[in-house]
Amino acid sequence: MTELLNRSALVTGGTAGIGLACAQLLADAGAQVIISGRDTARGEAAATALGSRARFVPADLAEIDSVRNLVRRSGDVDILVNNAASFPAALTVDQRVDSFEKTFDTNVLGTYFLTAGLAAGMLDRGSGSIVNITSMVASKGVAAASAYSASKAAVESLTRTWAIEFGGRGVRVNCVAPGPTSTEGVVAQWGDTNDELGRALPLGRTAAPAEIAAAVVFLAGPHASFITGTTLHVDGGGSAM
Ligand SMILES: NC(=O)c1ccc[n+]([C@@H]2O[C@H](COP(=O)([O-])OP(=O)(O)OC[C@H]3O[C@@H](n4cnc5c(N)ncnc54)[C@H](OP(=O)(O)O)[C@@H]3O)[C@@H](O)[C@H]2O)c1
Repeated sequence: MTELLNRSALVTGGTAGIGLACAQLLADAGAQVIISGRDTARGEAAATALGSRARFVPADLAEIDSVRNLVRRSGDVDILVNNAASFPAALTVDQRVDSFEKTFDTNVLGTYFLTAGLAAGMLDRGSGSIVNITSMVASKGVAAASAYSASKAAVESLTRTWAIEFGGRGVRVNCVAPGPTSTEGVVAQWGDTNDELGRALPLGRTAAPAEIAAAVVFLAGPHASFITGTTLHVDGGGSAM
């Protein structure tokens, strides 16, 4: 496939899980792909595995200086996939302030200022596509997911605002809201709960990262040219329940 030839893409958290699957499909479609993450060794290894169309730039989305550095080092970006996120589990009565802050700093503040930094160039060039990875739980109550769910709901709200602010200058902004997906990161944080959520879905299972990435690449690319401001639920029917 070559439909994204001559396009540059940045996938935050592109070194593992859903982000890595997005980076793979974007590179397969011809894009030059930057992947970011905090762990440099993992990031360099992932970029090498992705091949000559990929490079790694280290960044911590929870640190504003790191976000600004990522904007500087990315150059002109045509496709931005805001995927990196923090998703610690805690019941509300047990919530720690530092964990709450890290969740919002990474998922909302970092996403916000990275988007602001890169959208400026997209608006100047009159084209661009931004896909925000949110979650099925942005619109559902799930115990122990309060801060995470609220952070993802904030990103869905930002998506609608950005679609209005950027649409007239050729930049589309959408969300993919995944259901439970089998990644090392989520298993480390949520254990068997993810599989239990998967079994409760109409399709009765968790997703593979590539099934989420396919929706991301669709929204990022030319086949979604009249779609902006929307959330595509890729959740095995979870949002229908
Ligand atoms: N898996 C699921 O069931 C599921 C369901 C719904 C939504 N989602 C969403 O899908 C996205 C990806 O989830 P995943 O399961 O693929 O996660 P994952 O396997 O844990 O991968 C997370 C990626 O984000 C990076 N990252 C984490 N914190 C970061 C930070 N502060 N700054 C920069 N990079 C950071 C990680 O690299 P480093 O650790 O090296 O920084 C890694 O590349 C997230 O937005 C998540 O909320 C996942």
